Amino acid sequence: MDKGGKVLVIGSDHGGFEMKQFIIEKLIKAGYEVKDFGTDSIESVDYPDVIHPLASSINKGAYQRGIIICGSGNGAQITANKYPKVRAGLAWNKEQAKLSREHNDANILSLPGRFVELDDAWEIAQTFLNTPFEGGRHQRRVNKIPNII
Ligand code: RB5
Repeated sequence: MDKGGKVLVIGSDHGGFEMKQFIIEKLIKAGYEVKDFGTDSIESVDYPDVIHPLASSINKGAYQRGIIICGSGNGAQITANKYPKVRAGLAWNKEQAKLSREHNDANILSLPGRFVELDDAWEIAQTFLNTPFEGGRHQRRVNKIPNII
């Protein structure tokens, strides 16, 4: 697993708290340095309050890669993708995580905390972290993503 000397950012709302804690433990055991943007308990919070600071830090180039989690994975992903340099992919399985890297050069993985088992989420996260971008025609397509009309 290539850690690339980089710090991985992670954040969730209450719907993803248990999964976040599980994944942080796995990441640290695997040798990653992790910056945790919260939340810190299962008390209800608004996912944008956690995801905005995390996504902004990636947008500014302070960090390169992140994992975000909410109940469905949708709210976190939608919030993160407001930032022009963020490409957050929602993945329910390893195949989707792999494609989000190979085809979309995703720099954030969004996980659905209430719909995926913890061990499966760790498998998905590892796939996301270990899969390179394919480039080529996919680079051309990724370059067009910001071109709103
Ligand atoms: C919180 O109940 C839930 O709405 C949130 O975790 C997420 O699923 C939103 O998209």
